[in-house]
Amino acid sequence: METVVSGIRSTGNLHLGNYFGALRNFIKMQKENNCFFFIADLHSLTTHPDPKHLHENVKNVLTDYLAAGIDPEESAIFIQSDVPEVSELYLLMNMHAYMGELAKTSSFKEKARKQPENINAGLLTYPVLMATDIIIHKANKVPVGKDQEQHLEMTRRFARRFNNFYGVDYFPEPTAYNFGSELIKIPGLDGTGKMGKSEGNCIYLMDDPKEIEKKVKKALTDQGPESMNSIKPDYIENLFTILKVVSTPDVVQFYEEKWNKCEIRYGDLKKQLASDIIAVTSPIRERILEIKKDDDYLRKVSRMGAEKARESASKTIKEVRDIMGFKSF
Ligand code: TYM
Repeated sequence: METVVSGIRSTGNLHLGNYFGALRNFIKMQKENNCFFFIADLHSLTTHPDPKHLHENVKNVLTDYLAAGIDPEESAIFIQSDVPEVSELYLLMNMHAYMGELAKTSSFKEKARKQPENINAGLLTYPVLMATDIIIHKANKVPVGKDQEQHLEMTRRFARRFNNFYGVDYFPEPTAYNFGSELIKIPGLDGTGKMGKSEGNCIYLMDDPKEIEKKVKKALTDQGPESMNSIKPDYIENLFTILKVVSTPDVVQFYEEKWNKCEIRYGDLKKQLASDIIAVTSPIRERILEIKKDDDYLRKVSRMGAEKARESASKTIKEVRDIMGFKSF
């Protein structure tokens, strides 16, 4: 049995990118592994959320996770800031992370470009905190989308560096928990690339069917292909990428053939896409609405999760302190 750690920032509700990037097949994943699912509220601080909204955002992600099918009896589901051991290990790991490598990280460069007025040290050391989340449970597998590939590579580097520096074989070097052959990137429907909260182009698990239909209808298309078997432009390929994760292979094949024969009707494709997205999200949405009302349940679940996570994290902290030479008098 392997240990799996999965994290989602508390910056809004879960969207299709999170669901298919990090949670796909999680029922199988949580049955076969020792899983830790958490809400990365410390990571969300890099963009200075309003304290009035922080708790609500955490609650939304916790609710969405549970509604998506995470079983709190089977897995640990917890809030990052409820586990203070994470902050301690983060401090220790920071001593072995270097300015040059952190400043070169793509996510840092992108954030620095997006928020030039707030390039805080937490942004720079973001990958160290993420590595900490993973290695504190000595995880071997991390389900992530394509956008987190570099962070995972850095996690391996930090784990390896720690082991080499202290001459131990302590932290495993975690790899991606792949759902298929490669890491997935769910695109937005606006033709701009990745579906993401900060991109403002998400279809949320929480969206009602009308909203989903509206969003899909608005997706960028064109006049249609001009020659048989032509290469699809990015914004059309994006529709097919989403279709591939929500629809059955024969549906995908049907529209591929229509495209290849220049017979595709985007109206039909969009209707199909919306209806298949709704089939995935509707049952989750219903559960979200139920769970959201039940504060007692959310309290119980987050306490239980924090307890499980702290048990595992405090064992690691104790061992790491020992490896690093801390001794009590
Ligand atoms: P975050 O909150 O941006 O996204 C959470 C998870 O969803 C995946 N994801 C996507 N996958 C495919 N297509 C998309 N459009 C898409 N958008 C998001 C992400 O790859 C991720 O798996 N740094 C992380 C949070 C984190 C974490 C961790 C993850 C902190 N510590 C430890 C795993 C393990 C982040 O910002 O993800």
